[in-house]
Amino acid sequence: MLTTEFLGYTLKNPMMLTEGPLSGKKELIEEAAGSGPGLIFTKGIRPEPVSSPVPYMKVYQGSLMNADWSCIGIDAWEKVLHELDIPVPLITSIAKNYVDADTAIIMAKRLVKAGSKIISFVDYNPAELVQTVKLARPVIKVPIMVKLPPFLPGLEEILKQLVNAGIDAVAAMDSIGPGLVIDSETGEASLGSGDGSGYLSGKAILPFTLKYIYEISRFVDVPVVGVGGVTDTEGAVKMMMAGATGVGMATAPMLKGFGVYNDITEGLEKYILSHNLKSISEIRGKTRMILQEKEVSEKFRAEIDEALCINCGLCLKVCYSNAINCKENTYIVERASCVGCGLCAGVCSKDAIHFN
Ligand SMILES: Cc1cc2nc3c(=O)[nH]c(=O)nc-3n(C[C@H](O)[C@H](O)[C@H](O)COP(=O)(O)O)c2cc1C
Repeated sequence: MLTTEFLGYTLKNPMMLTEGPLSGKKELIEEAAGSGPGLIFTKGIRPEPVSSPVPYMKVYQGSLMNADWSCIGIDAWEKVLHELDIPVPLITSIAKNYVDADTAIIMAKRLVKAGSKIISFVDYNPAELVQTVKLARPVIKVPIMVKLPPFLPGLEEILKQLVNAGIDAVAAMDSIGPGLVIDSETGEASLGSGDGSGYLSGKAILPFTLKYIYEISRFVDVPVVGVGGVTDTEGAVKMMMAGATGVGMATAPMLKGFGVYNDITEGLEKYILSHNLKSISEIRGKTRMILQEKEVSEKFRAEIDEALCINCGLCLKVCYSNAINCKENTYIVERASCVGCGLCAGVCSKDAIHFN
């Protein structure tokens, strides 16, 4: 039900562990591999060992800010690759943004020689990514993918160039930033980086990733890995509906433990059964198809279902066009005053408000 074809591998499920502290060393990768994900990306690999100024993580409103660029260095990664024996595919992720294209190719060759079966390049500069893939394609004989930063202007053209250069898959996106978390008592920045800034990941960024994956999967035919903000089954379903073949997570397993993979895959199986599907791949791109045929209108207006309404009055409180009245303990929308904004439906805990 959950098996997913990806770059010549049959993954047991579409869930992936992406670059982060949990895939930064051998013991954690082994633990992760036994905990449910269908595939693992290593933490970003750099030429030398690097550590991050501490603290480099701050939980922020249920999400996470990080300034973590630590790495054990490529020599240590070669050793890990020689020794690792795990039952799921491993993608070695090269932190291209810290090196030039020639150095990235040398690193890729070393990693492939050490046993890497898939290479990914990560860079915030799209021109550098295109150049790197162009150089890598003739000399790297394993699948090559790239991970894109958030909000790339000129996305369609960049994707075209990356596909022409020879990418086999694309992942998006990295954490969003830079941002600053400030302690209101002391005025100090919460992270240890030089300018105190960090990058946001976790559930707060899901809507942005969904839109990005929706756009990317419109423009390319290669498989897309959606990463950013997925923390539960519902998020994973939405990511695939937006167009993702694989669904990556970095923050959720850090905050919830590796058990989150089994929770989500069990949830996906239940979703398949309750929606009469044969395979999870049937939902891929569903939102794209719906949006293509969507009827755009300014005429829809709210209606309250009396049978579901519990008379809490929240809809009346938020209605800034004064379209909701309460008569004899029954809430009614005055169609002529309603502007159809949707706020009332958004605050209704009973899903009693719909649009007609
Ligand atoms: C602490 C931390 C370290 C990360 N390190 C890397 C990295 O080395 N390379 C990389 O490409 N992405 C890195 N990421 C980004 C994640 O792989 C992922 O793209 C991003 O966090 C969004 O996914 P999430 O919301 O599931 O965490 C890191 C994220 C976190 C939270």
